[in-house]
Amino acid sequence: MIPTVDPYPAYRALREQHPVYWDSDLNAFLISSYAEASAVLRGPGWSSDPNRNPALAARFDRAELGTQALRTTLLTMDPPDHTRLRRLLAPAFTPRAIDALHPRITAVVKAALADLGTAGEVDVIAEIGYPIPLAVMCELLDVDIEGAQLLRTETPKLVGMLEFDPDEEAVLAAEEATASLALHLLPILGDRRHRPGEDLASQLLCLGDDGEALRLGELGLGELGLGELGLGELGLDEVLATCILLLTAGHETTANLIGNGVLTLMQHPDQLDLLQRDPALIKPAIEEILRFECPAKIVGRTNLVDRQLGGHAIRAGQRVLILLGAANRDPEQFRDPECFDITRTPAPHLAFGAGPHFCLGAALSRAEVQETLRQLLPLLTEWRLAPGAPAWRVSDTFRALEKLHLVSA
Ligand code: HEM
Repeated sequence: MIPTVDPYPAYRALREQHPVYWDSDLNAFLISSYAEASAVLRGPGWSSDPNRNPALAARFDRAELGTQALRTTLLTMDPPDHTRLRRLLAPAFTPRAIDALHPRITAVVKAALADLGTAGEVDVIAEIGYPIPLAVMCELLDVDIEGAQLLRTETPKLVGMLEFDPDEEAVLAAEEATASLALHLLPILGDRRHRPGEDLASQLLCLGDDGEALRLGELGLGELGLGELGLGELGLDEVLATCILLLTAGHETTANLIGNGVLTLMQHPDQLDLLQRDPALIKPAIEEILRFECPAKIVGRTNLVDRQLGGHAIRAGQRVLILLGAANRDPEQFRDPECFDITRTPAPHLAFGAGPHFCLGAALSRAEVQETLRQLLPLLTEWRLAPGAPAWRVSDTFRALEKLHLVSA
């Protein structure tokens, strides 16, 4: 497929020569231009539901792609189910709701960065990128120390489910992780249902109380036996699947954004210097990092109606793969797109997708990364990239660093 370390020449060639390209190996159209990517993400007649694509559904049935629990979440639903669940969940993730979490996010970041100065070397991915979004989720779900430990060991394994073409080992690990997280979270959710706290899970459970929630079977969780536990009337199933989805979707991507951000700033000292002198630029800088090194590289859709796109006839049932990282560097949309410029405004990139499936966690992730950069920026002058850095992870789905070692300057 597209090279991992430097995908951009391949993206450019595709965009310039075949912005909509039939890849017979992948049995899908690759979309690399901004206009076509945006049209698919925002337009009607495209499905995110693997059940509407016979080839994908068969792969799910053979358990090649992930768990049944995550087969039916927001990410893989179409209207009207998607619209209904999204409307229920959205209030917990608005920028205003996330603003209220700011003191807790600040405390998490402060704790994560506390010991940074004491060692001569730091791995930004292992010591900052992964721990911060995970600690924020532990805070949000208000899990105890045992729960936090479980989330720490199991959450990284969930990411296999989001990989475009995961290997068998990754799928198995994700299955097991989902099962152990579900077993741990279920009694907690059952308890919060009766005695709600201030946490996100309680909030989500309350959101379900207006009676609009889906039933257990619809989420493929019937076999977990929630009904027997007497816990299944109002949206507990959705809350569990959503908690696991949030852990899955929010962890790796935010870790990647932190890693990609630190690396890109270190590789562009003029922009780092500008940001250090004017921290008010943090918000636009994060949007530029999202555009320039897009953490989620690819999203897929199944076409539901015969149509023309970019001069190609696409039949109902055919699959398209949208290369977000390629669209984000389309010169038709962004002036001088290969240039990393934190003063670029406005930057309507596609890093969080667009349209009905626009990332639910965008405000949360922006808040986490803003606070991380705010606290990290003054420290970055004391560090430089270690020899051999960076090390990109081999992944068709994520623009992700395996590790990012900095050494004290
Ligand atoms: C830098 C960080 C992140 C990036 C780059 C990112 C990227 C994306 C993208 C591209 C989509 C659209 C998928 C599609 O169209 O098929 C998406 C959806 C989603 N994201 Fe994120 N995400 C990030 C952080 C988060 C966080 C922190 C959470 C939650 C804690 C989250 C939860 C979700 C959910 C639930 C969806 C599904 C929304 C829907 O289908 O309606 N994401 N994300």
